[in-house]
Order: sequence, then structure tokens, then C-alpha cells
Amino acid sequence: MSTEYIIVEKSKKLNGKINLSGSKNATLPIMAALILTSGKSELYNVPESADILQTISLLKDLGAQVDFDPEKKILIADTSTINNFEVKPEVMNKMRASILVMGPLLSRFKKAKVALPGGCLIGKRPIDLHLNNFKKMGVNIEENSDYLYAQVNNLDKNLQNKKQQKIILEYPSVGATENIAMLAASLPKDTFIINAALEPEVLDFLDVLKKMGVKIEILPPATIKISGVKEFKTIKHKIIPDRLEAGSLLSAVAFSGGQIELPDARADHMDIFLEKLSEMGHEVIINPDNSIKFKACKKPKAVSFKTGPYPCFPTDLQAPMMVLQTLADGESIIEETVFENRLLHVQELKKMGADITHINNSKVLVKGVKKMHAKEVLAGDIRACTALVIAGLACDQNTIIKGISHWRRGHDKLEEKFEKLGAKIKISL
Ligand code: EPZ
Repeated sequence: MSTEYIIVEKSKKLNGKINLSGSKNATLPIMAALILTSGKSELYNVPESADILQTISLLKDLGAQVDFDPEKKILIADTSTINNFEVKPEVMNKMRASILVMGPLLSRFKKAKVALPGGCLIGKRPIDLHLNNFKKMGVNIEENSDYLYAQVNNLDKNLQNKKQQKIILEYPSVGATENIAMLAASLPKDTFIINAALEPEVLDFLDVLKKMGVKIEILPPATIKISGVKEFKTIKHKIIPDRLEAGSLLSAVAFSGGQIELPDARADHMDIFLEKLSEMGHEVIINPDNSIKFKACKKPKAVSFKTGPYPCFPTDLQAPMMVLQTLADGESIIEETVFENRLLHVQELKKMGADITHINNSKVLVKGVKKMHAKEVLAGDIRACTALVIAGLACDQNTIIKGISHWRRGHDKLEEKFEKLGAKIKISL
């Protein structure tokens, strides 16, 4: 375990106005989609986090020329020089989302060689929904212990001659939806992805495919119709603001007291999360432009919630919202339905004095307590790390959080935004 850690001191009420970074989870698939094009594209409002830098080096590995200005948040990629269709283990193991290059590599080269992605602490994170549906789309996939070798099979004439194809996702997987869409974008047919993921980040990614010239329709309740093209235009695109960063900032203010303004938030991407904050008694003002003004209430009431695919309560804000229940008045039942092991922060919050009991593997009961105590705790993923930092804001001594790599992977200097609000957070060197 690295010796790096985050120190959080007890903070007074937080106050301020914060501009959000672009969404990491929109940026990653959009950067993968650039592989479909051959030329220079520009992305704006790109966050600077370890995952983004990792994806930049992945694109360079494939032969692209990429310039990123983290101050201006502008990324310029010239993909005309991409000449490689292999993703090495050392790249895939650093970031599971690298699997998203499989679809565009198959579209560009008709083949791809990708190392098997690692899982992570929040679950096995299989890729069966990606691979099984690629096979249905005419891709041959062989697997050895380290690599997947995929090749578009032009021999299956009746598949090739089909004018339409239905791909039915048994679970609305975000990554599988995006990966399948990037292969379907180059097939000379109409592909219908049924039970697709429609998170705001997926919709932003689909906007980029549309700018590239792909005809896309979203049909109720959750079908994406994609009519493939031969050529992909280069694009200019501004990444949507990060709703998960917005949720983290709002949670920090709700927990420590105070108020915050998020002038570039997209409240329409966060309906159920904001609804839960209001149910707790906090003041949530949503302006016509979807910007948010928030004022914490003194005696928040406990609320229950259950995570699920969008527009259900987002799994990525489950841990921060759980922290808000630890000092709330009453009891809260929280159920995690998206990942099979995304409650690792429970044991850490209990070390800090939270009263949390497991009802079963995916459901907990939280009873509000009067105080939380500073401890040394360990974060299991990006969002657990954020939650433990937020918990530290209300503890009397310094809270030490290990697992800082998660923080760096997922956030664009979120600690600076917390400090701007008045929080006292230090990241060890
Ligand atoms: C995306 O991950 C996000 N990451 C995750 O954010 C987010 O938590 C998740 O969607 C759910 O919203 C990015 O967009 C880069 P899934 P993804 O495929 O695509 C199972 C963060 O903190 N599944 O929708 O990997 C899977 O195991 C990260 O920013 C299969 O069984 O999520 C999980 O239980 C964490 N087979 C569920 O579906 C598959 O082939 C949802 O996974 C694929 C997924």
C-alpha cells in the first residue's frame, strides 16, 4: 500500500461558489470514440485526472498524437496516425475502462488485441456483455490467459446481409452500451441496442458519435438505434459537467453545514440525488438554467435509497449519501444493486463511530449518531475515498485516509475545490 494519504481536519461550515470539472465518465468513452476518426479533433472542459492521463497514453500507444492543456482543459488529438490495434496488459491493468477501445478498434481495423482487464475492489466487473454481443455482431473472439483476440468475421454472409440487428442487453451496462455502439457505428445496417444504458455520460458520448456523422435515435423506453457510416468526421466537443463531482461537493456541504453555488451544474442530470437532499430537509434551489444553490439544514432527517441504472439513484453517489445518514436524525436503509461489493466503506465508517448494520450483502441499516471520530481509514474505490474525506470534515481530530490513488484516478483536484469552500484537506506528497 502506498504511504500516500489524505489528512482531513474538522471543518467549519463550508461556503462558496465552485465551477465543476468535465465528467470523467463522459470523457473516457469519448476519447475512445476518437479512434473511429482520422484527423484532428478537439475536446473542451476535459478533466485532469489519472484516468484521463492514462487514456491519453493509451491513444499515443495506438499511434495518435495527443496534446492536453490541463489549465485550459483542452485536448487535441490527431488520430490519422493511429496504426496499432493492441492494448498491452500494463495499460489495461491500470484502468479497466481501457476495454472501451475494443469497439472502435474493431471498427477501424476489423480486429483488436486487448489484454484482459483486471477487476477491482467493487466487484468482478466482467465484460461478458461486451464480448457476447460483439460475437452476435459478427466478431470472432479467441481468448488465452492474457489476451483477447477479436476479428470481424466477414464470412458469415447471412449476418453481413442483414439490414437490421437487435442487440438485447440483459443489464443496461454503461460500458457495454458504449462499446457496442462504437462497433455498430461502422456496420452497414441499423443496430438496435435494447435495454441500453442512458446515463448522462452515455448521452454525451452519443452526441459525439452524432457529430462524427453517425445517425442515432433514442427510442423509448431505452433503445438506441444506430445506422452505421463508412467515414467518421473529426469533431469539436465540450464535455458535460461532472454530476458526480457536483454530488460530492453538495454532500460535503450537507455534512459540514453551510452553503454552495454550482453555476455550471446540470441539475437535470441529478434529479433523484437532489430530491433525497431535499427530503433530508436541505434547501435545494434549481435555477431555470439547471444551476444549483444549496443551503444545508441544521437537523437533517435520515432518508433511505436504493441504487440502480440511470435515472435511479447513482451507485457512484451511494457512499457519499451514506455518510450523510450517519449523523442524520432517524434510520436509513441503503441498498446497492449495481455492484456486488460496493459497501467496503461501511466497515471504515463504523471505525469512525457510525452505527451501520448489514441487513444482507447489498443492504445496510444506518442509525444516526451524535458524533463521528477521526480514525485512520482505507478507501476501496474513488467514491468511497470521497465519502471518507467528507466524513472526516465532521470529526473532531484529523482523519487519515489511505487509498489515495483512487482519489487521483477519479478527481480533477477536488481537494482544491473543498479547500476553496473552507475545508482543511491536505494530500501527502
Ligand atoms: C461505468 O462503469 C462507470 N465508469 C462507473 O463509474 C459506474 O459506477 C458504472 O458505469 C455504473 O454507472 C465509467 O463510465 C468509466 P457497468 P462500467 O458496465 O461501464 C456488470 C466511477 O467511480 N457488468 O454499467 O464498468 C458490472 O459488473 C466508476 O467513476 C457485467 O456483469 O459499469 C456491474 O455489476 C466506478 N458484465 C454492472 O454490470 C459486463 O459485461 C454495471 O456495470 C459489464 C458489466
